[in-house]
Amino acid sequence: MKINLAPIQGYTNVDYRKLHAKYFGGVDKYYSPYLRFEPNKELKKSVVKDILPENNEGINLVPQVLGTDVNLFIELAKQFEYYGYTEINWNLGCPYPMVTKRGFGSALMQTPDKVKQILETVLPKINIQLSIKCRLGFENDKEIYSLINVINNFPIKELTIHTRTAKQMYKAKANPDAFKSIIQHSKHKLIYNGDIKTVEDIVKLNQLFDNKITNFMIGRGLLMNPFLAQEIKANIYNKSEKLEIIRNFIDELFEIYSEKLQASHLIQRITTHWEYLSFVFENQHKTYKKIKKAKTIAKYKTTVNEIFLSEPK
Ligand SMILES: Cc1cc2nc3c(=O)[nH]c(=O)nc-3n(C[C@H](O)[C@H](O)[C@H](O)COP(=O)(O)O)c2cc1C
Repeated sequence: MKINLAPIQGYTNVDYRKLHAKYFGGVDKYYSPYLRFEPNKELKKSVVKDILPENNEGINLVPQVLGTDVNLFIELAKQFEYYGYTEINWNLGCPYPMVTKRGFGSALMQTPDKVKQILETVLPKINIQLSIKCRLGFENDKEIYSLINVINNFPIKELTIHTRTAKQMYKAKANPDAFKSIIQHSKHKLIYNGDIKTVEDIVKLNQLFDNKITNFMIGRGLLMNPFLAQEIKANIYNKSEKLEIIRNFIDELFEIYSEKLQASHLIQRITTHWEYLSFVFENQHKTYKKIKKAKTIAKYKTTVNEIFLSEPK
């Protein structure tokens, strides 16, 4: 079984990915949060840094892109190929209006002809494999079928489906039953994504899919329990081992951020990670609340010490 870490803007940046691989492992493929390309707009420098190969040594990374301009798409794919990447992922799932209003991300699920045109133009001109990440649809979970009818005719590496519609954003329950019905329609390898939080979740999905799906993508479940990929692969840690690894991980992430960011940004950035990481602690809400209250570096450090010292082993 293969486990991929989902791209999550603001969380799974290069520093997180590197430290995740170093301290937790078990992830077969990491995806970068999307790099948006648009005519007359420079690529964001921080996003380019995020995918530079020298910053991602030792990580099996797939850069993800978002946009529709075919010339820029081809240019980027060539650049990634030059960097040594073997796969590029195209985002057809982003639900945010600032993206969909421009016809990008999940908006493309309502315009399969446009997807067809883009693939017809781009694929013959690139030598890197293209994979796609999409949702069940923009408005409803039937739209996926029109998209699959289109991409079945192209040599796509694989298709990851986040089993919600764009309208549902991130909070509604994922829909594995809808995914099950799609399996027989797709000519491509499918990767399931949505609401995997425990080993039992994977066991249930395997039953539902009759073991036909071997690749899973996990987002927030891995942010909450960074050991999850290892646990799925039957590598189990006891609580005190886990706490020690998490302590080393979060301290090193803090050090890396402190070399790059000013104090207020640093605290904001590290607090973001605790939103999910606090799940590891017995009282998740209290833990996250304590971290949120720490507004200076000194207070943050004392709070982290207290949290680890007071946690039952
Ligand atoms: C804050 C946030 C940012 C995200 N950024 C991206 C992104 O850049 N590209 C992408 O394809 N999906 C993005 N996603 C969606 C995730 O990759 C994933 O599909 C979604 O969270 C469902 O998986 P999960 O239930 O395992 O978290 C984002 C999700 C969240 C919550």
